[in-house]
Amino acid sequence: MSDTLSVGMIGSGGIAQSHMRAIAGLENVRVAAVMDVDETRAQAAGDEHGARAYASLDDILGDTEVGAVHVCTPHSLHVSQTVAAAEAGKHVLVEKPMALSVADCDRMIAACDDAGKTLMVGQVLRYYPINRAVKQMIAEGRIGNVGHLIRRRYSYFDAGSPTSGYPGWYRDLEVGGICVLYCFGPHEYDILPWYLDSPVVEVYSRGTASTTLYEGQKDSYTTMMTHENGAVSVLSQSVVCHAGAGDQFIVGSEGSMRFTNGELTVNGEAVDVEGSAGEGMGRQIREFAECCLTGATPDASGRSVRHSMAVIEAARHSAERMAPVQVSEFG
Ligand SMILES: NC(=O)c1ccc[n+]([C@@H]2O[C@H](COP(=O)([O-])OP(=O)(O)OC[C@H]3O[C@@H](n4cnc5c(N)ncnc54)[C@H](O)[C@@H]3O)[C@@H](O)[C@H]2O)c1
Repeated sequence: MSDTLSVGMIGSGGIAQSHMRAIAGLENVRVAAVMDVDETRAQAAGDEHGARAYASLDDILGDTEVGAVHVCTPHSLHVSQTVAAAEAGKHVLVEKPMALSVADCDRMIAACDDAGKTLMVGQVLRYYPINRAVKQMIAEGRIGNVGHLIRRRYSYFDAGSPTSGYPGWYRDLEVGGICVLYCFGPHEYDILPWYLDSPVVEVYSRGTASTTLYEGQKDSYTTMMTHENGAVSVLSQSVVCHAGAGDQFIVGSEGSMRFTNGELTVNGEAVDVEGSAGEGMGRQIREFAECCLTGATPDASGRSVRHSMAVIEAARHSAERMAPVQVSEFG
């Protein structure tokens, strides 16, 4: 068995560049090929990383040296490209969101299972040292039993504007899904049950279209979740808030944690965590490669992340129905 995984990038835009930079620092992975419908972009990335460049999916999937693909394309393409890659015998690391519906997640899981291939989702927050430290401290009972967790993620995300640096498809409902839920939400709804190691059973969500920036979709959601272990978490998100925020408070029976803009305190005292968020991408890709090479199951496996996608779907329906929704309704 080879000790290096040769990967092909599907999509060579913003996040694919981060993947390729991280791969350059890893020993067990190399970029063998890059594919993008924008041929010039694919060629430039291929030249930079010493990889073959393709403009068609069939061509990269037909490249026998490519053992795995990283799907780094707009959201609505994730399901078809993942299924096609699995059917071509490739392992798949797909960027978040895994897909735009739980039904599509199931298709992806089934295709990879049938082909005997690894399916992992780019839940990079799980690989940030600080998030691993928070999860570990909760598991070790550092603050006792966690009863309450509140998290906010607010930003002003005007994708497609000349200054944002992000392409306009993020605001296209058909391609990107509801932006606040399917662009930022996959990180947020994933990290809460992951921290607590307890799935969400019930969701009550309300959303508003606070501005007209996102045509035909709500731009802000607040969701209350009840976890299987009885803990309650509240997630509040907006993509139209100029005053940004990224913070959380975790309240336990023996103490509490606060985690604001990268600074962690436990019972009011600062805790130093070694390593930076910038290491997350490399750690994530290293784990994917190890799993492909050994047959182990990644932490952010398709099955694991399917739960987060079911919670998002439940939140969407809860906001539409203005009523609590059981996550089990979505499998
Ligand atoms: N993990 C993170 O923190 C993070 C950050 C940014 C983006 N992302 C995710 O990464 C994915 C890509 O986002 P991005 O910001 O890089 O987008 P992008 O628009 O910068 O890049 C997407 C690329 O896909 C190409 N493309 C479009 N259609 C294609 C097709 N049919 N086949 C092949 N290539 C095609 C485009 O030409 C473009 O180069 C999204 O799922 C996004 O949510 C994750």
